[in-house]
Amino acid sequence: MTTGKNKVQIAPSILSADFARLGDEVQAAVSGGADLIHVDVMDGHFVPNITIGPLVVSALKKITAVPLDVHLMIENPDQYVDAFIGAGSDFITVHAETGYHLQRTLDAIRRQKVRAGLALNPATTLNVLEHLWPDVDLILLMSVNPGFGNQKFIPQVWPKIQQLRQMINDKTLDILIEVDGGVKIDNAVQTAQAGADILVAGSAVFDGKNPQENVRQLKLAVNGG
Ligand code: DX5
Ligand code: ZN
Repeated sequence: MTTGKNKVQIAPSILSADFARLGDEVQAAVSGGADLIHVDVMDGHFVPNITIGPLVVSALKKITAVPLDVHLMIENPDQYVDAFIGAGSDFITVHAETGYHLQRTLDAIRRQKVRAGLALNPATTLNVLEHLWPDVDLILLMSVNPGFGNQKFIPQVWPKIQQLRQMINDKTLDILIEVDGGVKIDNAVQTAQAGADILVAGSAVFDGKNPQENVRQLKLAVNGG
């Protein structure tokens, strides 16, 4: 059940890249056809891991024209949104579970001409979207519990993707569905067919020696030759 209109996009997550060679890793993924570069920001509070901040986003902005898809897994996102916008984020996604004033947060992102995303953990119901449809450009469905790369895809998320696709189609909304966590070459097609527009892939792209070829294979699998 896809929209049937657009190709599925691949967003390599740099979480699994070699940070000592980050520029080269990103360039390799881009030359394999990466549509977005997914940047996982973790604060050690909302998730039990700590990663990177706006400095890395601004460094990446200088070396690639591919849009930067920034996934904030942090508490109190309002405090940091401006810094990530200033660093050159093209998409900023905040977690539904972290915001007291989600509508205000999403609106603040969009006012600065950055696309606004809302992420839902696997156990978070789609009901949270009911009063936010006009405020989102992208909905990110987590298919693992956030915090770490290379976890196993949680299968209950497939019907959730289908349900969200149906809702967006029924309302004829222009909102992207992104799926993040545990996406591999052997489940990418099923995930795309459930209705995803963007597949995040971290370990599937950067584990191993050839990110360029890994992205190429994922794109081939979901979009054909
Ligand atoms: C999980 C992150 C994901 C993760 C994806 O907390 O948000 O973006 O890096 O990595 P893989 O594809 O290895 O599950
Ligand atoms: Zn992510």
